[in-house]
Amino acid sequence: MQRFIAAKRELITRSTAKQVFGLIADEMRHVEAEFERQASSNIQVINYLGDYVRASGGKRLRPALLILTNRAAGGNAAENVIRLATVMEMLHTATLVHDDIIDNADVRRNRPSINARFGNQSAVLMGDWLYMSAFETALGERSLEILDILTSLTRKMTEGEIIQMTMIARLDISVEDYFNILRRKTAYLFSACCEIGAIQAEADESTKYAMRNFGLDLGIAFQLADDLLDLTGDAESLGKDAGADLLEGKLTLPLIKLVEAEPEMRGVFERIMLDGNYDSFSRDKIRLSLETAGIIDDMKAEAQTFLRRAKKSLDVLPETQYRSALEAILNFIIERNA
Ligand code: IPE
Ligand code: IPE
Ligand code: MG
Ligand code: MG
Repeated sequence: MQRFIAAKRELITRSTAKQVFGLIADEMRHVEAEFERQASSNIQVINYLGDYVRASGGKRLRPALLILTNRAAGGNAAENVIRLATVMEMLHTATLVHDDIIDNADVRRNRPSINARFGNQSAVLMGDWLYMSAFETALGERSLEILDILTSLTRKMTEGEIIQMTMIARLDISVEDYFNILRRKTAYLFSACCEIGAIQAEADESTKYAMRNFGLDLGIAFQLADDLLDLTGDAESLGKDAGADLLEGKLTLPLIKLVEAEPEMRGVFERIMLDGNYDSFSRDKIRLSLETAGIIDDMKAEAQTFLRRAKKSLDVLPETQYRSALEAILNFIIERNA
């Protein structure tokens, strides 16, 4: 029965994603073409690596959100919107390329990560190149408002990774520290996408404010789901190693909650981090403990709180199919398995 419910939910999630992306299929095709243009260079190695990261796919959630918020706020998803949507995907890609070096991750989007395939040196440089190309394109818009958002966003994302680094292997990480990291490394980027979509629609201040908050809450829920999926999902659907967080020394919220519920888990996690493997206590056993302690439901409920708040932010928008699509994305965030 549970399996049946899960399969049904999966079907609904997939058809929702199809509908949402179907609505902006043309725009997303333009984003792909623009990405190819922006990630190309007359330096052959850059071209090669650019192609490698671009062609590996990804959900393209950030450009989709920028385009949908633009449309929902009355914009027309014109060329400059496509360009900025692509900039956001390039920035996201740059953070992934650097994140995989930091996390020592070998797999990304079901392929060897850039660092695993071409080495850390190439990955650092390629990440930098992607950042700067994205900024160059953004500069072309001549909008200080947008540049302000992008520079402070990039600083905050880097701060998020740095704070996280200082917390590696810390079993006493607080819930507050956890949320501070999560907002910086993930949520502000989503927030910037949604705010920029509204700015490019020439929306009023209250709409821009609402879209910024919509993206922030959605982004928080997205990373909560990512951290849960690391413990409950499978590598094939995720396209990256599962169970990686603990091995990387990251005590994410579900694990913080588990230590709180079962203090003896502290030692278990310490051992796993030290060994760098799950030989002493399997990931499956951790998943079971999370389930028994009600933490999986708890995490979903926590994410739902942010999703509900995000949904409320949409109230400022007129009722259009684009607003409905934004609402549909909220469900996808928590039901997804990839
Ligand atoms: C991965 O983001 C990084 C996180 C914020 C968890 P996505 O899950 O959106 O990655 P892609 O772009 O679909 O590969
Ligand atoms: C996500 O951090 C945020 C960034 C990539 C900046 P994670 O380390 O959790 O992301 P994944 O799990 O590697 O995609
Ligand atoms: Mg990572
Ligand atoms: Mg993760």
